[in-house]
Amino acid sequence: MKIMVVAGSAREKSNTRGLAQTIATHLEQLGTDVLFFDVGIHELPIYKGSTETEHPNAVKLTRYAEEADAFFVCTPEYHSGMSGALKNALDFLRGDYFRGKPAMIAAVGGGGKGGINALNDLRTVLRGLYALVLSEQYVTDVVCYNDRCELVHEDSRTKLSDMAQQLVHVTKALGK
Ligand SMILES: Cc1cc2nc3c(=O)[nH]c(=O)nc-3n(C[C@H](O)[C@H](O)[C@H](O)COP(=O)(O)O)c2cc1C
Repeated sequence: MKIMVVAGSAREKSNTRGLAQTIATHLEQLGTDVLFFDVGIHELPIYKGSTETEHPNAVKLTRYAEEADAFFVCTPEYHSGMSGALKNALDFLRGDYFRGKPAMIAAVGGGGKGGINALNDLRTVLRGLYALVLSEQYVTDVVCYNDRCELVHEDSRTKLSDMAQQLVHVTKALGK
């Protein structure tokens, strides 16, 4: 089973990357092949329509999405929405890469302000791509991370482990 994990922040020091890495580790421990795409490392041009889709990172993004049996997408909350970098990445993709495939979502918010708006935003966009976005979702706050952007909050790690298991369970139930 292949699961694409997306880290949706372009910042050099990114808590969302720490979140996505935690999830990737949980998924690997469950025996899945993780296709890890980080919009801060695999930088993409701005989506304009066609020619930039030949960019090597856009080719990688598209290949991962096509190959994936399921998705776990992580976003930061920026000004009450998902990051522009993540939305730009999703704009490169088509509904037929997501149709009938489950997707789990999680976010990082700051200062106890939220994360829920970014999740609602991301849920709407993934629905627009025809993903089966699962009802379970999770927000972590910046205080859950150490100086190296590692997720160190134990309750969050446990919850994300449960969510990874749920995603694998649903993906298997769909015949993968
Ligand atoms: C431009 C910007 C806007 C932000 N807006 C929000 C917000 O609306 N709500 C919130 O809870 N946190 C907000 N934050 C805090 C971020 O969610 C927090 O810094 C988080 O670590 C960002 O993820 P990253 O480190 O992966 O980039 C904002 C941060 C930045 C840099």
